[in-house]
Amino acid sequence: MSEKVLIFDTTLRDGEQSPGASMNLEEKVSIAKCLEELKVDIIEAGFPIASKGDFESVQAIASEIKDCQIAGLARAKHEDIETAWNAIKKANNPRIHTFIATSPIHMEFKLKMSEDQVLDRIKDTVSFARNLCPNIEWSCEDAGRSSIDFLFKCIELAINSGASTINIPDTVGYNLPMEFGEIISKIKNNVPNIDKAIISVHCHNDLGLAVANSLSAIQNGARQIECTINGLGERAGNTALEEVVMAMKVRSDLLNFNTGINTESISKTSKLVSSITGFAIQPNKAIVGSNAFAHEAGIHQDGILKNVQTYEIMSPETIGLKKSSLVLGKHSGKNAFKEKLKILGYEIGDNFINEIFERFKNLADKKKDIYDEDLIALVDDRHINQLATLKLVNLSIMSGTNSKHLASLELIFKEEVQEVSGSGNGPVDAVFLCIANVIGFSPKLKQYSINAITPDSDAQGEVSVKLEYQGKEFVGRASDIDIIVASAKSYINACNKILNSDCNNTIQEGISEISISQIKGI
Ligand code: KIV
Ligand code: ZN
Repeated sequence: MSEKVLIFDTTLRDGEQSPGASMNLEEKVSIAKCLEELKVDIIEAGFPIASKGDFESVQAIASEIKDCQIAGLARAKHEDIETAWNAIKKANNPRIHTFIATSPIHMEFKLKMSEDQVLDRIKDTVSFARNLCPNIEWSCEDAGRSSIDFLFKCIELAINSGASTINIPDTVGYNLPMEFGEIISKIKNNVPNIDKAIISVHCHNDLGLAVANSLSAIQNGARQIECTINGLGERAGNTALEEVVMAMKVRSDLLNFNTGINTESISKTSKLVSSITGFAIQPNKAIVGSNAFAHEAGIHQDGILKNVQTYEIMSPETIGLKKSSLVLGKHSGKNAFKEKLKILGYEIGDNFINEIFERFKNLADKKKDIYDEDLIALVDDRHINQLATLKLVNLSIMSGTNSKHLASLELIFKEEVQEVSGSGNGPVDAVFLCIANVIGFSPKLKQYSINAITPDSDAQGEVSVKLEYQGKEFVGRASDIDIIVASAKSYINACNKILNSDCNNTIQEGISEISISQIKGI
């Protein structure tokens, strides 16, 4: 019988700590829903004391998600713990995750606390948390560089004070697999009350060893792995959920463990996290990279044709990748369309099906072949356009090798139709300048990328932009058969996030020389 390893996903907490990966409430809730479908055991929804936005997102996730435990992070302080509890207490199964550093360097320079003071704080804060919530996880930050004897004392005390999960982080990604496995084994064999808790591990990837360290840990007694989708996280990131889960599944001959993960949702979740954060997935990334199942060399292709297992250790279908198939055409009916979306994992309510179906028909008029990816982009765009303060109505461009690049746009901004035109250094620049002119502020474009989502030159282009405004970053994305329109829509998507954020209170009116004519109110 294989033993169960719990999967604790921290994409929304440690993942969000990656510079530039911040997400808004709606985005976090949509990722949490995907994680629930993926069947992770625990979702660490955020760090509620960090900001009002964090608190509200954790609270929203705690009330929306029914089938996963919801954890909120707290430092070893009563105020943090109380705030975390207030954010998660409506969840079906809430968990407070509290931590304090235990390594000499962290205690001396960061905490300025002695070992005895840290021990006192553990006792005080873990029992405080346990009085609020029955499910307590305690972490010894920087455990990988802590004295093992001191760790034993801290862990024993945390368990006696009420912790039922003990998390051992390699906070700085310093440990090697053998060494980390040995730390877990020593804890298992030397902490007298360790049988009253589950050992968890939380590995960072600074040396590219987070997955290997996590696997070594479960071979030595850990039964919970903390990880993130696409390995997102501080610095070089955290253990990648898709890698560690698939390693256990594919090599179950050597790793006699099971997770409850619904692996067929891996690809969809990975794409959602990538598009929301604007963090592209490198093509050769294990499991979810676009080349992970591509066979280029003739000798490999020949082998694959004879027997797919010659070069494939897992099938793309296991992670939910369906062969890009030609699905529907412009004569397809609404029922077939709805059924196809269901197969792709999207249950669309009757309110929105008409809107998306109309957009599908428009696309089918312009594009010969409609692929699964086109349909997924249509559904994603629907989420993007909800609650928008700024919307694109029309766009036209004049551009060429020796001519000026001129853009003319019709936009709806704050329920008023506005027309704007102007020039720029290239058509994208002209469009972005026009939009900035209408909204009255000019965010800095930090990143722009474009990707064809299907084969053929009539493919839709998916554009992702990252804008910086008042020190914060906002990601926008959109797709369209016309890449300038996709660029405009993704810029508008990011601007809507700025407009819906607290930066909105300080946005100043009016900036530029381009003429704007307000044509009518609606
Ligand atoms: O890396 C780390 O040590 C953490 C803790 C808060 C678990 O993220
Ligand atoms: Zn971490």
